[in-house]
Amino acid sequence: MTNSLWYKNAIFYELHIRSFADSNGDGKGDLLGIIPKLDYLKDLGVDCIWLLPMFGSPLKDDGYDISDYFNIHSDYGTVEDFQLLVKESHARGLRIITDLVLNHTSDQHPWFIESRKSKDNPYRDYYVWSDNNKKYEGVRIIFVDTEPSNWTYDETSGQYYWHRFYASQPDLNYDNPEVADKMLEVIRFWLDMGIDGFRADAVPYLFEREGTSCENLPETHDYLKRVRAMMNEHYPDAILLGEANMWPHELRPYFSGDPNNPAVPGDEFHLAFHFPVMPRIFKGLKLGRANDIINIMNDTPAIPYNCQWCVFLRNHDELTLEMVTEDDRQLMWQLYAPDPAMKLNLGIRRRLTPLLENDRRKIELANAILFSLPGAPIIYYGDEIGMGDNIALFDRNGVRTPMQWTGERGAGFSTADPSQFWAPLIDDAVYGYQHINVASQQHEANSLFNLMKHMVAVRKSLFVLGWGDCTFLQLDNETILAYHRHHESEHCFIICNLSDQSQTITLPLSEFAGRTPHDLLHDKSLAPVTTSEYTLTLAPYQYHWLAFK
Ligand code: GLC
Repeated sequence: MTNSLWYKNAIFYELHIRSFADSNGDGKGDLLGIIPKLDYLKDLGVDCIWLLPMFGSPLKDDGYDISDYFNIHSDYGTVEDFQLLVKESHARGLRIITDLVLNHTSDQHPWFIESRKSKDNPYRDYYVWSDNNKKYEGVRIIFVDTEPSNWTYDETSGQYYWHRFYASQPDLNYDNPEVADKMLEVIRFWLDMGIDGFRADAVPYLFEREGTSCENLPETHDYLKRVRAMMNEHYPDAILLGEANMWPHELRPYFSGDPNNPAVPGDEFHLAFHFPVMPRIFKGLKLGRANDIINIMNDTPAIPYNCQWCVFLRNHDELTLEMVTEDDRQLMWQLYAPDPAMKLNLGIRRRLTPLLENDRRKIELANAILFSLPGAPIIYYGDEIGMGDNIALFDRNGVRTPMQWTGERGAGFSTADPSQFWAPLIDDAVYGYQHINVASQQHEANSLFNLMKHMVAVRKSLFVLGWGDCTFLQLDNETILAYHRHHESEHCFIICNLSDQSQTITLPLSEFAGRTPHDLLHDKSLAPVTTSEYTLTLAPYQYHWLAFK
């Protein structure tokens, strides 16, 4: 495997700096706090850390509203701290990427402060202005709970400005070549510091055109290709991981290239999140039915050899239901958001473990699916120990609470008085840091942490899971999710019982007659395959990753 394809079989770990570890006792996590935790991430088996935005920001959207692209937020440290973090990560063989917010800035960015001064300000054209709020009519609103419109009127200069997210996040105008060039400077600035790439935030919305949805436009793809070409030329090992919350056929162009012709590799994103499969895993687990997962994966187009999906169960946002039908959205809310406070925009603001009712069987199964589907898996910080959430907190903060390192006062997150923490620790009877923390789970052989560590290690040892194709088996039992991962002579069968009842199935394994399936995760051999039917009984929520000896 060449180095520039390192991401094909990588494990990502998404980390909120503010919540991970505090080095200076101010109750907020910071970059220097992460350094002593790198060995923990290495031990877990992570390959690449993804840091949420760390730049200068008034934090109206937790740093996704950037007011200074060339500096680190003072809460998080300095550019020198960041360089040290990169150096220390690389010394341990860990890669590190951060968010790149291209679509918008903060309204406190000097460009916008200038832009809104008057219609003839030299920075006016850095943003998207209009005399009326009827332009681009029909374009959907993303933050439906708070934003009545994608346009906000600016009193000072007497026009409306365009924003796809909060009104405090005006969209940049990529039709202005200066903007397009300036953002390339930003990208190069951080790549020159040795960063391994970016999670490119909210990319479908870079350009606007009348009469369209203003999403996924050809102009947007052209710009992203330009970014990639620059990276290929100067930083060939660095990656772009695209955040486009879209259907598979809309995601496909973000890779470009030709899957059937290695001479035409992808030349846009290296990786893109597979958004639609995620809610279907949750739905499948609740209803004990595999069909939605199978259908969306069968609807997922092939991608070039140098591209990869990124799969995830949870992240720092609400569990998005944008990629399901209206009926399914209502159903998912009914199933997973019994308290209205759990809903946010078109999603559910809860963490993995509470969503799965703290049922260890379901948590293991969800991860067994995550780690074996086509794509590079992402672990959201704290999910490896089963952290809980706090829906009483504002916006998405309830899933961004301080990491629970120990059971001591302050949870090992910070030496500040806990009342000074930027957000309260989870402190309830089930998920409180006193019970759920890294230190205790590291010592307990059967802990979730040790299970996750094992799953990561087994996954990484299986080239086929990073590179292989994936065929879903047709079984006449709708509760079983079964797929065959295959690469050259390597085979792996993933068999999952999504239901709370035991199930007996027949597997089409005749081509392996005479060989013995081995359960890789539990290191156990099953009965050998013969020429007669191969039957298998799975306990409720049981799963196997089977390879042949
Ligand atoms: C992305 C981020 C989200 C942020 C939004 C606006 O969707 O994941 O947290 O609020 O972009 O930048």
